[in-house]
Amino acid sequence: MLSNEIRDKFLKFFQTQGHVVVPSSPVVPNNDDSVLFTTAGMQQFKPYYIGGADAVQDFGSLNLTSSQKCVRTSDIEEVGDKSHLTFFEMLGNFSFGGYWKKESIEWAHEFITRELGLTIDYVSVFAGEPSTSSGQGGVSEDKESEEIWKSIDPDIVIKKFGRADNFWGPTGKEGPCGPTTEIYVDGIEVWNIVFNEFFQREDGSLEPLKTRGIDTGMGFERLVKVMQKTETVFETDLFAPLMRVANSRIVVDHVRTSAFMISDGVMPSNTGRGYILRRLLRRAYVHARKMDMGTEVLNSVADAVVNHGSYKGLYAFAENIEVVMMEEIEKFKKALDAGLKQVEKGEDPFILFTSYGLPLEIIEEVTVVDKESFNKQLAEHKRLSQEAGEHKFSAQKDISANQEGRKN
Ligand code: SER
Repeated sequence: MLSNEIRDKFLKFFQTQGHVVVPSSPVVPNNDDSVLFTTAGMQQFKPYYIGGADAVQDFGSLNLTSSQKCVRTSDIEEVGDKSHLTFFEMLGNFSFGGYWKKESIEWAHEFITRELGLTIDYVSVFAGEPSTSSGQGGVSEDKESEEIWKSIDPDIVIKKFGRADNFWGPTGKEGPCGPTTEIYVDGIEVWNIVFNEFFQREDGSLEPLKTRGIDTGMGFERLVKVMQKTETVFETDLFAPLMRVANSRIVVDHVRTSAFMISDGVMPSNTGRGYILRRLLRRAYVHARKMDMGTEVLNSVADAVVNHGSYKGLYAFAENIEVVMMEEIEKFKKALDAGLKQVEKGEDPFILFTSYGLPLEIIEEVTVVDKESFNKQLAEHKRLSQEAGEHKFSAQKDISANQEGRKN
């Protein structure tokens, strides 16, 4: 089944169950400053769980479904394995005070096994969490979900995990969160069904949500991989045309993510979102260069992303994506070449950091670095900068700072 058919099938299935299809919001959240990027389908619906907005008034229904564009850079080091990506779509169904555990689990089971014909390896449910010695927290085991799974299929394998695996949210410092039940197919967690019933405050304490609700998320690219029975996500019809242009998973992933960021208005810069985009483009360029591919290959990958046919919304931004990307990469290439020349002439690679703003991770890709000496100089440099009252380091924030949206 083609990826476009799988996405349509999902949205139609939930439409048939009384859900309204809502378009994806941009990868830059427009209602939430606590996160850099949209990391989950529920992001745009946060106010409906908290009680600040009314889904019936806004969408004509308590129950919604979407395929949401998401960016998560917290797993960037894992990009290139079978299933990790910095940009992905998340298929989801949501309810704000409508249906609860029984319907959401039954529909998920029906969609996976009957609509898609897949076999579930096992499911997981929340094992419960005792309250701390100070009396905080304490969430009971999710026996209800376990019973529902058993009533659907008495033979299904049910595993029980604690907070690290089967509890989701909040995104950012505070917000809706709750126990989850997850579905595993072919060794991959494909679907995360969240029972949002708490609001976590900044201090970590939980209070019951005004409107309890359902938030499910199924990683689209992973699902397509499972359906198309490929070795990794990169051989699916979503990536094959891009991999034909540049046979590098990192280049393909980073350019694809950059294209979506630029189309949603992000510009390369030294802080926040812009800095993440800058780092992605630099990494993509350095990886292409290592494989002896020129800058034009990055442009061709971006072209392939735009013309893929999966994301019609990108067409209008084709030129903008190209201009922003190429300007940034050309600037970087010049700086990198100049810096490397100096290193060749005997300068310490540390100047690539001080004078050219390159992070160690990139310096290591382009030249030999004595890490111990580098880190010593870095510590000294930081000390001196702090003494001088400078704040240069805010811009050197590690790319993994975008940790929102991870499980607790
Ligand atoms: N918010 C949950 C997740 O991102 C389910 O959609 O996994």
